[in-house]
Amino acid sequence: MKFFVDTADINEIKDLASTGLLDGVTTNPSLIAKSGREFLPLIKEICDVVSGPVSAEVASTDYETMRKEAEVLRKIADHVAVKVPLTQDGLRVCKELSDDGTMVNVTLCFSAGQAILAAKAGASFISPFVGRLDDLCQSGLELISDILRVYDNYPEFDTEVLVASIRSPMHIIEAAKMGADVITSPPKVIKQLYNHPLTDSGLAAFVDDWAKTGQSIL
Ligand code: G3P
Repeated sequence: MKFFVDTADINEIKDLASTGLLDGVTTNPSLIAKSGREFLPLIKEICDVVSGPVSAEVASTDYETMRKEAEVLRKIADHVAVKVPLTQDGLRVCKELSDDGTMVNVTLCFSAGQAILAAKAGASFISPFVGRLDDLCQSGLELISDILRVYDNYPEFDTEVLVASIRSPMHIIEAAKMGADVITSPPKVIKQLYNHPLTDSGLAAFVDDWAKTGQSIL
């Protein structure tokens, strides 16, 4: 399972990249706004820190302008994945970019039908938003299961299922149990995966007991 971080905070990205466990980054216009940074130089900076896919989203919604924006974004680095919305125009851009060898992440997916369209348009990644479905009392994880089941039937679909809008470690664990290809998570949730109270208490006991030996490894 690949781990992407869903943030535009360069310090959080550097921190997670230092673990060696980070496979990519996803951003969106809301995260860029929150960062307070200039979009294009920020994406370049992220690409210099992380060698895996870095999703950069178009800002417009019509085909012509999205296509032009995508040209700018894909020139930033070879590992930029241009992020487009799951609309007819967005998938038209997706198909053209994919045919041209550019990675595309199709975002705002809320149904298996939309995921089928994205795969047919050659998307590298489909981003179903689990948390936002859960917020509406619909099961986001059930959507992940449905998409994986559909994609399994068609080996010609190369699209990776990128579980987005993650709100808790359980989303990551359940997605992993289903065999989802990628998760993109806020930094806080990735860090929560490290935590267990028995790890903390066990480590405290080991540190105490070691001190009693009076020994030193170094
Ligand atoms: O970046 C796409 C997605 O992960 C957004 O998540 O928390 O805004 O629903 P959220």
